[in-house]
Amino acid sequence: MTLEKWTEVDEYLENSYLPEASEFDWLLEANRAADLPPIDVSPAQAKLLKLLVRSSGASRVLEIGTLGGYSTVWMAQGLPANNPAAKVVTLEIDAAHAKVAKENFQAAKLTDRIELQMGSADALMKKLISQSVPPFDFVFVDADKESLSLYLELVLQLTRPGSLIVFDNVVRQGEVTDQQSTDSRVLGVRAFHGILQSDSRLDATAIQTVGRKGYDGFAFAIVNEADAVSLSRKS
Ligand code: SAH
Ligand code: DHB
Ligand code: MG
Repeated sequence: MTLEKWTEVDEYLENSYLPEASEFDWLLEANRAADLPPIDVSPAQAKLLKLLVRSSGASRVLEIGTLGGYSTVWMAQGLPANNPAAKVVTLEIDAAHAKVAKENFQAAKLTDRIELQMGSADALMKKLISQSVPPFDFVFVDADKESLSLYLELVLQLTRPGSLIVFDNVVRQGEVTDQQSTDSRVLGVRAFHGILQSDSRLDATAIQTVGRKGYDGFAFAIVNEADAVSLSRKS
């Protein structure tokens, strides 16, 4: 099976399940016109994110890694319409990416639903933690893969029991099982899996995906109720 076939099937699925996706084709075109790397989630993946936001009833969504905001606008579609305070907070380190994303959020008339913060995700999350912001119900982690384990640790301080965390690019064309890999992104993903697989604070799984973006995967984790040990530590 090839990328060509996977793309053909993605087009078939988009044409059937995602007639509304064409509403945001302009955004992907704007991202390409601005020379952003073509690493936005695919339309079918974007709709999965929207459905997950919807099904978890999330009103506070955090995204790490905005790029041009394609995933961001889709997740915003999953927010409850009757809660004007519901929003997506999205973090982006690259000023050029953030500029394109801001223009896209304006064009999509979603500036009241999306808050873009520019800077390095770890510093921005540490700031959010120090500000004691209300917990996020849903988090999409999609920035540099080297920092996945760090982001997991910080996200745990910004969520609550029951929050759903989704991680992108956790299979990396299968390189995830290459113990000889020297690619810093693969090393980051492998270290991350080691933590996620054994962390009693989370109930997690990961799946492989193919499609127009190639061969990759998502990890999903729900934050567990604090156990007796961590409760007693807090008291
Ligand atoms: N979520 C987007 C794609 C994100 S691509 C979508 O699906 O549409 C990854 C983004 O993470 C890039 O824009 C990159 O600049 C950003 N990024 C990389 N390292 C980062 C960091 N340390 N802090 C914040 N953003 C970072
Ligand atoms: C890369 C990053 C992504 O977020 C993605 O979806 C695909 C590739 C990368 O850095 O290679
Ligand atoms: Mg990604």
